[in-house]
Amino acid sequence: MTDFEPVQLEALLADFEETRESLIPLLQEVQTQYCYLPEFALRRIASKLSVSLTDVYQVATFYSCFSLVPVGKHVVQVCLGTACHVRGAPRVLDRMLRDLKLGTPGTTQDMQFTVRSVRCVGCCGLAPVVRVDNNTHPNMTQAKVRGMLKKYRSKEDRPAGEADEVDDAEARVHS
Ligand code: FES
Repeated sequence: MTDFEPVQLEALLADFEETRESLIPLLQEVQTQYCYLPEFALRRIASKLSVSLTDVYQVATFYSCFSLVPVGKHVVQVCLGTACHVRGAPRVLDRMLRDLKLGTPGTTQDMQFTVRSVRCVGCCGLAPVVRVDNNTHPNMTQAKVRGMLKKYRSKEDRPAGEADEVDDAEARVHS
Protein backbone atom coordinates (compact mmCIF):
# COMPACT_ATOMS: atom_id res chain seq x y z
CA MET A 1 0.00 0.00 0.00
CA THR A 2 1.49 3.37 -0.91
CA ASP A 3 -1.26 5.91 -0.20
CA PHE A 4 -2.22 6.41 3.37
CA GLU A 5 -5.94 6.86 3.80
CA PRO A 6 -7.19 8.60 6.96
CA VAL A 7 -10.28 6.38 7.03
CA GLN A 8 -8.06 3.32 7.24
CA LEU A 9 -6.06 4.93 10.01
CA GLU A 10 -9.22 5.43 12.06
CA ALA A 11 -10.17 1.78 11.58
CA LEU A 12 -6.71 0.74 12.69
CA LEU A 13 -6.77 3.02 15.74
CA ALA A 14 -10.05 1.50 16.85
CA ASP A 15 -8.28 -1.82 17.47
CA PHE A 16 -5.98 -0.38 20.16
CA GLU A 17 -6.46 0.70 23.77
CA GLU A 18 -6.13 4.44 24.27
CA THR A 19 -3.09 4.15 26.52
CA ARG A 20 0.59 4.92 26.11
CA GLU A 21 1.32 1.16 26.07
CA SER A 22 -0.33 1.07 22.65
CA LEU A 23 2.18 3.51 21.16
CA ILE A 24 4.82 1.08 19.87
CA PRO A 25 2.34 -1.60 18.66
CA LEU A 26 0.37 1.12 16.87
CA LEU A 27 3.45 2.54 15.20
CA GLN A 28 4.45 -0.98 14.16
CA GLU A 29 1.05 -1.55 12.62
CA VAL A 30 1.08 1.74 10.71
CA GLN A 31 4.63 1.03 9.51
CA THR A 32 3.60 -2.46 8.36
CA GLN A 33 0.46 -1.31 6.62
CA TYR A 34 1.87 1.75 4.89
CA CYS A 35 5.64 1.17 4.81
CA TYR A 36 6.31 4.42 6.69
CA LEU A 37 4.93 6.71 9.38
CA PRO A 38 3.19 9.72 7.81
CA GLU A 39 3.20 12.92 9.86
CA PHE A 40 -0.57 13.16 10.08
CA ALA A 41 -0.72 9.60 11.45
CA LEU A 42 1.79 10.51 14.15
CA ARG A 43 -0.30 13.56 15.07
CA ARG A 44 -3.47 11.49 15.22
CA ILE A 45 -1.80 8.78 17.32
CA ALA A 46 -0.50 11.41 19.77
CA SER A 47 -3.97 12.84 20.14
CA LYS A 48 -5.67 9.46 20.44
CA LEU A 49 -3.26 8.18 23.12
CA SER A 50 -2.99 11.55 24.89
CA VAL A 51 0.78 11.65 24.60
CA SER A 52 2.85 14.53 23.28
CA LEU A 53 3.86 14.65 19.64
CA THR A 54 7.46 14.94 20.85
CA ASP A 55 7.12 11.59 22.64
CA VAL A 56 5.72 9.98 19.52
CA TYR A 57 8.57 11.34 17.39
CA GLN A 58 11.15 10.21 19.95
CA VAL A 59 9.92 6.63 19.70
CA ALA A 60 9.46 6.81 15.92
CA THR A 61 13.04 8.00 15.40
CA PHE A 62 14.66 5.78 18.05
CA TYR A 63 13.89 2.39 16.52
CA SER A 64 15.43 1.54 13.16
CA CYS A 65 12.33 -0.45 12.17
CA PHE A 66 10.41 2.82 11.79
CA SER A 67 10.77 5.25 8.91
CA LEU A 68 9.40 8.76 8.48
CA VAL A 69 9.75 8.54 4.71
CA PRO A 70 8.23 5.90 2.42
CA VAL A 71 10.38 2.78 2.11
CA GLY A 72 10.22 -0.03 -0.40
CA LYS A 73 8.29 -3.24 0.05
CA HIS A 74 11.59 -4.97 0.91
CA VAL A 75 14.38 -3.41 2.98
CA VAL A 76 17.83 -4.60 1.93
CA GLN A 77 20.64 -4.06 4.43
CA VAL A 78 24.13 -4.51 3.03
CA CYS A 79 26.60 -4.91 5.88
CA LEU A 80 29.74 -2.83 5.45
CA GLY A 81 31.20 -3.68 8.86
CA THR A 82 34.87 -4.63 8.99
CA ALA A 83 34.48 -8.40 8.46
CA CYS A 84 32.07 -7.92 5.57
CA HIS A 85 34.09 -5.06 4.10
CA VAL A 86 37.31 -7.07 3.83
CA ARG A 87 35.42 -9.97 2.25
CA GLY A 88 33.98 -7.94 -0.60
CA ALA A 89 30.83 -6.22 0.68
CA PRO A 90 31.53 -2.95 -1.20
CA ARG A 91 31.48 -4.88 -4.49
CA VAL A 92 28.20 -6.56 -3.49
CA LEU A 93 26.70 -3.16 -2.72
CA ASP A 94 27.92 -1.71 -6.04
CA ARG A 95 26.37 -4.60 -7.94
CA MET A 96 23.10 -4.25 -6.05
CA LEU A 97 22.86 -0.53 -6.76
CA ARG A 98 23.60 -1.13 -10.45
CA ASP A 99 20.99 -3.90 -10.72
CA LEU A 100 18.38 -1.72 -9.04
CA LYS A 101 19.39 1.37 -11.02
CA LEU A 102 20.20 3.35 -7.91
CA GLY A 103 23.08 5.82 -7.80
CA THR A 104 23.31 5.68 -4.02
CA PRO A 105 21.51 3.67 -1.31
CA GLY A 106 17.84 4.58 -1.31
CA THR A 107 14.50 3.43 -2.66
CA THR A 108 13.76 2.18 -6.15
CA GLN A 109 11.24 4.05 -8.27
CA ASP A 110 8.83 1.11 -8.22
CA MET A 111 8.95 1.09 -4.39
CA GLN A 112 9.99 -2.57 -4.38
CA PHE A 113 13.33 -2.14 -2.58
CA THR A 114 15.02 0.20 -0.15
CA VAL A 115 18.77 -0.39 0.04
CA ARG A 116 20.76 0.67 3.10
CA SER A 117 24.35 0.15 4.12
CA VAL A 118 24.74 -0.84 7.78
CA ARG A 119 27.56 -1.56 10.23
CA CYS A 120 27.63 -5.19 11.45
CA VAL A 121 24.43 -7.17 11.66
CA GLY A 122 25.95 -9.54 14.21
CA CYS A 123 26.94 -12.57 12.13
CA CYS A 124 30.47 -11.75 11.02
CA GLY A 125 31.30 -15.45 10.54
CA LEU A 126 28.94 -15.45 7.55
CA ALA A 127 30.52 -12.39 5.91
CA PRO A 128 29.76 -10.78 3.61
CA VAL A 129 26.17 -10.60 4.77
CA VAL A 130 23.06 -9.03 3.26
CA ARG A 131 19.76 -8.91 5.15
CA VAL A 132 16.49 -8.60 3.28
CA ASP A 133 13.57 -7.92 5.60
CA ASN A 134 14.11 -10.57 8.32
CA ASN A 135 16.17 -12.95 6.18
CA THR A 136 19.95 -13.24 6.33
CA HIS A 137 21.84 -14.02 3.13
CA PRO A 138 25.36 -15.26 4.01
CA ASN A 139 28.54 -15.35 1.94
CA MET A 140 27.17 -12.93 -0.63
CA THR A 141 28.93 -12.38 -3.92
CA GLN A 142 28.23 -10.08 -6.84
CA ALA A 143 27.08 -13.13 -8.80
CA LYS A 144 24.37 -13.95 -6.24
CA VAL A 145 22.84 -10.47 -6.14
CA ARG A 146 20.57 -10.70 -9.16
CA GLY A 147 19.06 -14.06 -8.23
CA MET A 148 18.49 -12.94 -4.65
CA LEU A 149 16.64 -9.79 -5.73
CA LYS A 150 14.48 -11.77 -8.15
CA LYS A 151 13.22 -13.99 -5.36
CA TYR A 152 11.83 -10.97 -3.54
CA ARG A 153 10.40 -9.13 -6.52
CA SER A 154 6.80 -10.22 -6.87
CA LYS A 155 6.00 -11.91 -10.16
CA GLU A 156 3.72 -9.15 -11.42
CA ASP A 157 6.34 -6.50 -10.63
CA ARG A 158 9.22 -8.12 -12.49
CA PRO A 159 10.43 -6.38 -15.64
CA ALA A 160 9.09 -7.91 -18.87
CA GLY A 161 10.90 -11.13 -19.76
CA GLU A 162 12.29 -11.66 -16.29
CA ALA A 163 9.33 -13.63 -14.93
CA ASP A 164 9.69 -16.55 -17.33
CA GLU A 165 13.45 -16.71 -16.80
CA VAL A 166 13.01 -16.91 -13.01
CA ASP A 167 10.18 -19.40 -13.18
CA ASP A 168 12.26 -21.67 -15.44
CA ALA A 169 15.20 -21.46 -13.05
CA GLU A 170 12.96 -22.22 -10.06
CA ALA A 171 11.43 -25.15 -11.89
CA ARG A 172 14.89 -26.60 -12.51
CA VAL A 173 15.79 -26.20 -8.83
CA HIS A 174 12.64 -28.01 -7.72
CA SER A 175 12.63 -30.77 -10.34
S1 FES B 1 30.74 -7.03 9.97
FE1 FES B 1 29.11 -7.76 8.74
S2 FES B 1 28.05 -9.05 10.09
FE2 FES B 1 29.61 -8.23 11.32
